[in-house]
Amino acid sequence: MTYKILVVDDEVSLERLIKQRFRKSIRDNKLEFIFAHNGKEALEKLAAESPIAIILTDINMPEMDGLTLLEKLSELDVNLTLKTVVVSAYGDLQNIRTAMNRGAFDFLTKPIDFDDLEITINRTLEYVQKMKQNLKELHQAQSQLIQSEKMVSIGQLVAGVAHEINNPVGFIAGNLDHIEIYIEELLNILQLYQAELPNPSEVLQQQIEKVELDFVIEDLPKLVASMKQGTERIRNISTSLRTFSRSDTVQKVPFNIQEGIESTLLILTHRLKGNKYRPEIKVIKDYGELPLVECYPGQLNQVFMNIIANAIDAIEEATQGYTYEEIKATSKVITIKTEVVDGESEIVNDDNRMEELRLPSNRAVIRISDNGPGMPESVRENIFSPFFTTKSVGAGTGLGLSISWSIVVEKHGGRIDCISKPEKGSEFIIEIPIESNSGGG
Ligand SMILES: Nc1ncnc2c1ncn2[C@@H]1O[C@H](COP(=O)(O)OP(=O)(O)OP(=O)(O)O)[C@@H](O)[C@H]1O
Ligand SMILES: [Mg+2]
Repeated sequence: MTYKILVVDDEVSLERLIKQRFRKSIRDNKLEFIFAHNGKEALEKLAAESPIAIILTDINMPEMDGLTLLEKLSELDVNLTLKTVVVSAYGDLQNIRTAMNRGAFDFLTKPIDFDDLEITINRTLEYVQKMKQNLKELHQAQSQLIQSEKMVSIGQLVAGVAHEINNPVGFIAGNLDHIEIYIEELLNILQLYQAELPNPSEVLQQQIEKVELDFVIEDLPKLVASMKQGTERIRNISTSLRTFSRSDTVQKVPFNIQEGIESTLLILTHRLKGNKYRPEIKVIKDYGELPLVECYPGQLNQVFMNIIANAIDAIEEATQGYTYEEIKATSKVITIKTEVVDGESEIVNDDNRMEELRLPSNRAVIRISDNGPGMPESVRENIFSPFFTTKSVGAGTGLGLSISWSIVVEKHGGRIDCISKPEKGSEFIIEIPIESNSGGG
């Protein structure tokens, strides 16, 4: 990584001296020096050249002096890790104090001692680096916290609803079994009556015709059968909801990944369904045979949820402004493919990470693709970073994929990748080692 240092001084010869002194670091791409001759120019360079790590500034300069520059910097929304080092005349304690009060990180005295300058730059860069690392960790912790809180509450809600549904469905299903038997018995008795009373009275005859008894007798068992089907479906939904929100966080358990995907799709049913603006988004499943996979089921389901929800978002965004008929003609689909892969993992994108990404040979591979708008490279390379989003405020927090990344890579020792090009759709590839021996809680 190259650190940029902005040197602000009206002394033109300084540029040559610095380039001479730091030529090795410049050649090795460790440091890059940018020069400005007063505070005003410095602010322009800062806006054009971000991110700058250190500003080294003189105090007395034409147009805008160093102290004013410091003041402007504190008003600007410059990045938190930018540090300023002030160069002042020897013994000028007053200016040095003012500079420190305005947020300068350190100071040097004139004439510049280049050994001292080098030490100061290195020390400041160390500090900048440390701060960057801290910020990154803070960001990550924050994002995990938000997401896990969000997920825990969704999980609890879903599991709670599933539980509440189970009881009433239980007694409807139980009673239906009895109703089926009672109806059969009643119909038998009716048949016996009809046999023993072949010529009913006028009143009875009229009533039989009025209620269309033959039809009722034929239809009643069908109604009960369809009610039984309905309760069976509610039961499956409730089981799926509980599969989806499984909260095994302590230990990995063997899990049927396809069941996880199915339960996720069920949760997303209403988003996939057609509405008056667009037809339904079809889900094409191409499930290969997968063995049980050692994993944290609830967390893997979150990954599927995030990726499929993103695909729906992308398709919806891309279809905005088109008519129902136009959208129908392009037929939007999400394809989910699962398979077992044996052998070295194949590197799709990032050649530099080749070594890091070698995975144990036996892996479950889940590919989720959509024929939505795809992404330009500038988006694709950032999607796994916390808080990166292209969605409007309130629509996306930019956490879905960064959390998915840590679930797959850190918790499961697996790998997640994305292939996407504008107009060509997107494909997410998730690989999870089938027998877990890497990655942990
Ligand atoms: N299937 C996709 N097609 C196109 N762009 C996508 C797709 N999936 C993700 N993206 C891009 O990646 C970005 C990051 O996705 P991520 O899920 O991390 O955050 P988000 O969806 O914006 O917000 P949320 O935190 O609510 O999930 C999205 O804003 C979008 O630009
Ligand atoms: Mg998302």
